[in-house]
Amino acid sequence: MSFSSPELPSHVKTVLVTGAGGFLGQLILASLVQSHPTVQLIATDIHPPRIPAGLSSEEEKLITSLAADLGDESSIATLFEGKKVDLVFALHGIMSGGSESDFELGYRVNVDSHVSLLKYTTKHSKLERAGSPAVVYVYASSQAVYGGPKCLPEAVVDPDTTPLFPESSYGVSKAIVELYVYDYSRRGFVDGRILRLPTVCVRSGLPSSAASSFISGLVREPLNGQVSVCPVADSPEDPNMDSLGVHVTSVKTVVKNIIYSSTVPASKFPAHSRTINLPGITTTPRKIIEALVKVGGEDKKKFVEYKRDAQVLAITAHWPGGFDPSYALSLGFGQDDPETGFLTASQTFKEELEASK
Ligand SMILES: NC(=O)c1ccc[n+]([C@@H]2O[C@H](COP(=O)([O-])OP(=O)(O)OC[C@H]3O[C@@H](n4cnc5c(N)ncnc54)[C@H](O)[C@@H]3O)[C@@H](O)[C@H]2O)c1
Repeated sequence: MSFSSPELPSHVKTVLVTGAGGFLGQLILASLVQSHPTVQLIATDIHPPRIPAGLSSEEEKLITSLAADLGDESSIATLFEGKKVDLVFALHGIMSGGSESDFELGYRVNVDSHVSLLKYTTKHSKLERAGSPAVVYVYASSQAVYGGPKCLPEAVVDPDTTPLFPESSYGVSKAIVELYVYDYSRRGFVDGRILRLPTVCVRSGLPSSAASSFISGLVREPLNGQVSVCPVADSPEDPNMDSLGVHVTSVKTVVKNIIYSSTVPASKFPAHSRTINLPGITTTPRKIIEALVKVGGEDKKKFVEYKRDAQVLAITAHWPGGFDPSYALSLGFGQDDPETGFLTASQTFKEELEASK
């Protein structure tokens, strides 16, 4: 996938990307390298992150790929050794299903390691960057911080008034770290940007452990000739096919928005918040199947099986039908076309799939 990435602030010479071996991490790396040929990238994950395919040897040299378990504090220091890091994309994590089934692991990664990374970034700033602007710190949160009685299919989240009632360990962890990043920013230790991501579609590779994984799966698996289970409906006639709103963003838009967040001047944020609900679009299971058929043909429908899953339904019962994007749009973030965005994302996925064969 080729990207045009927003211009980074001029002082940014070295960028740390955590979770760089993951779905978004790989795309952020590729986007940064393609658009910023003078910026050095430190890419880290549990295993050394792959260098994204299709780069020139000069571009490859911009990436230092390092293995580090960020749950282990001492390994964080090694990432900063001999460097002057100006910008951090903190993307590593255990997704919602994984952190629900393994509480200890979820908190160790989704809370403890993020707090350690923030603390070490602050220490690094004091030691190596005295007199320089604070490290810009982009934290990938999630709309999973929302839930509870205000979040029903007919509700629209207003970032100023909808309370945070996360209903999973994943969502609680995200809310905890959001507060850390906010307070570290308020104190001037880092220059934070907290991004609540909608579900990113169409995700390539294997299904993730997220409860929302089926959204990408309904397109990805049939296009790959594999069965995909729709866990929110028992048949195409199930009312959930039209009443369940799923809030999504395309890969291209979210990658651009994540990088763009690092370019927004700190003065644009109100004193009390560094949080942005990234703009998404709301679609439905029926529209997803329609996109699959438009992109892949009528016969792809035969790969979709309908089987309600009580666990997934319990989570989706508190997915709000929409999110008010006006604040994010006023800051210059982008949004997919509400009418055609999911179809375009499905088409892009199909083209990538064909190009990779
Ligand atoms: N993709 C989405 O739809 C979506 C939606 C909302 C929020 N987010 C958030 O965006 C971020 C990136 O998402 P993604 O889809 O790329 O996730 P991903 O699961 O593909 O990547 C996460 C990466 O974190 C790494 N990781 C896990 N534990 C680690 C540890 N102890 N030390 C170092 N690395 C570790 C994993 O190895 C993995 O490569 C995550 O924080 C996620 O919660 C993603």
